[in-house]
Amino acid sequence: MKRTGLGLWAAVIAFAAAVQAAASAADEAATKAFIWSIPKAELHVHFEGTLEPEHYLELAKRNSLPGRYATAAAVRQRQRDGRDLKSFIEVYEELLSVIRTEADFREVAVAHLRRAKAQGIVYTEMFFDPQMHTERGIPLATVFAGLLAAQAAARNEFGVRVEYIMCFNRDRSVESALAILEASKPWHRRILGVGLDNPEEKDFPRKFAGVFARARSLGLRATSHCDVNQPNTLAHHWGCLDELKVERIDHGINVLDDPALIAAVKARGIGLTVCPTLMEADIPGRLEFRAKAVKRMLELRLLVTINSDDPGLMRGLLVGDLMLGVHRTVGLTKAEIVTLAENSFRIAWLPEADRAVYLAAVREAAR
Ligand code: ADE
Ligand code: ZN
Repeated sequence: MKRTGLGLWAAVIAFAAAVQAAASAADEAATKAFIWSIPKAELHVHFEGTLEPEHYLELAKRNSLPGRYATAAAVRQRQRDGRDLKSFIEVYEELLSVIRTEADFREVAVAHLRRAKAQGIVYTEMFFDPQMHTERGIPLATVFAGLLAAQAAARNEFGVRVEYIMCFNRDRSVESALAILEASKPWHRRILGVGLDNPEEKDFPRKFAGVFARARSLGLRATSHCDVNQPNTLAHHWGCLDELKVERIDHGINVLDDPALIAAVKARGIGLTVCPTLMEADIPGRLEFRAKAVKRMLELRLLVTINSDDPGLMRGLLVGDLMLGVHRTVGLTKAEIVTLAENSFRIAWLPEADRAVYLAAVREAAR
């Protein structure tokens, strides 16, 4: 068959495009394999936010709770309805209501840790929200028994280590936070520290300064959420550093908006647990914004890490998926991927000897 000049050019262009697509698919597959193969820590994931829609339905049935949703698709639709942090937390609280028994707590945590391990997460510091459980009549002892059973199961059954960080809710009272802090004393040696989450109220660092001082005096470490693009975010970041005396900031993307904050975070060795979780299809430009922030933080040599936050409510995306998502969006070098993994252990609240072992494992895997 005779080709016209134009037809020939079209064929050449199509061939070149196919070669390029094959090359980028191969690059993506190689990057994915590399990311998955590197041991990583996750430092910002909420126990309650790991509950997958299918698991939600199973627990609702097992606990004979009136099923508000008939299908996992209906749960996912409800999750997509969230417009802001406040409405997101409404869905979060609604879904966690099916977690009731010690076995439920254990099962939900183990399910997440097993999935995360498949993407190379070997160590997790997991948040949990005790006020959301005690307020609906679940004893603190049940919460801790379930979480600690998960810790033993993850270690014994598939060799993953999990430690816990107890969060106070920023939209609840100081008295309630102090009551939980005192009531949880029998388990203080089984947790690493305290955090703050839920909707961001004005001046929340000042509100919780006394609670954090008390927690630190009891030997607990401190971190706090500073969610992305919230009102008064810079003042809140400063308050977390200076009034709450946190060692890490959870999210912390807005650090980039203030050169003095960048300098302070760097000088004080503050870790940043960024969550590039919201996908483009949901909120245009959001992932790109968060991915660019990760890249910029790497360039500035800040102690940035990548975390999944609430994978059960965010399409099940785990740390490996998110690192790959960031790579697709802004391009990460192999060295940057290794730095992200190293940072995750550098800012983890691990004994130094254990940190050295994990860092050596990262170096070995990256060779
Ligand atoms: N609770 C669960 N995820 C949260 C987040 N990213 N910010 C504040 N509170 C949360
Ligand atoms: Zn969070």
